[in-house]
Amino acid sequence: MSNTLLSLDGVDTFYGEFQALFDLSIEVGVGECVALVGSNGAGKSTLLKVISGLMSPRSGTVSLRGENIGGVGAETVVKKGVTLVPEGRRLFPSLTVEENLLMGAQAKRGGPWSLERIYQLFPNIAERRRNLGGALSGGQQQMVAIGRALMTNPDLLLCDEISLGLAPVVVRELYERMATIRAQGMAVVIVEQDIGQASKVATKLYCLRSGRVVLEGSPSSLSRQQITEAYFGLETTAHGHS
Ligand SMILES: Nc1ncnc2c1ncn2[C@@H]1O[C@H](COP(=O)(O)OP(=O)(O)OP(=O)(O)O)[C@@H](O)[C@H]1O
Ligand SMILES: [Mg+2]
Repeated sequence: MSNTLLSLDGVDTFYGEFQALFDLSIEVGVGECVALVGSNGAGKSTLLKVISGLMSPRSGTVSLRGENIGGVGAETVVKKGVTLVPEGRRLFPSLTVEENLLMGAQAKRGGPWSLERIYQLFPNIAERRRNLGGALSGGQQQMVAIGRALMTNPDLLLCDEISLGLAPVVVRELYERMATIRAQGMAVVIVEQDIGQASKVATKLYCLRSGRVVLEGSPSSLSRQQITEAYFGLETTAHGHS
C-alpha cells in the first residue's frame, strides 16, 4: 500500500533473555494518528523504542516507506524522519529551554518547524526560553520535549505518555496543540493510558497485552467494552497466566 509510512512485521524483541514483544505487526499510514494502549508492562514503550531505533528487533522487520530501518540506530532513524518524545520527557536540566529545543535541530532535516514556530505553538515556553529545563513545571517540560522532537521535522512523531502526571487542564492544552501539529501532515503514534483520550484523537488503535497486539481497529468501530476487555485481558488466552 503506497499510503503506508511505517510497518512492523513479525517483530520479536528481547531484554536479555526476557521477551518483551512477540510477533508484533502494526501499520501507520502517512499523516495518520495511531494510538497504542495497554496496561503497565504491556510493551508500549518497548515498541516505540524499536521504531525509534533505540532497540533492535531480534526478528521481524521495521520498514519506513518500504526501507528496513530495524536496528540501524536512533540517530539514523531520526535523520530518516522518525522522532521519539520519550517517556518521562528527558530534558537536559542544566540547559536552557532554547538549548534543549536546539538539540532537535541537529538532525538538520528541512520542514515547517523552527524555534519561532515552536514558540508560537507554545507561548508559555517562549516566555521561558532562557530558563533552565530543570526549573520548569511538568507541563512546560513536556511542551519542550515535544518542541525538541518537532525541531527534527519528523514525518512520524512517537509520543510516549505525554499526559502522564499532568493536570487535566494541561493535558487538554497538549492535545489541542497536537491537533495543530498534526495539521502539518505529520503522522503520530501516541501511547496513552487514557482510553477515552486515545479514542478521541486516533484514527486507528492497537491494544497491547504481554507484548502482543490483542485488538486493533478504528476507535469508532470498537466498543468501549471490547477495548477494556482487551486492555485488562478479561478473555482467556492460550498462553495466559500471570
Ligand atoms: N530495561 C529493561 N530491562 C528488562 N526488562 C524491561 C526493561 N524495560 C522494560 N522491561 C520489561 O518489558 C516489558 C514491557 O515494558 P514496557 O516498558 O515496554 O511496557 P509499557 O507498556 O511501556 O508499560 P508502562 O505503561 O508501565 O510504561 C515489561 O515486562 C517490563 O518489565
Ligand atoms: Mg511505557
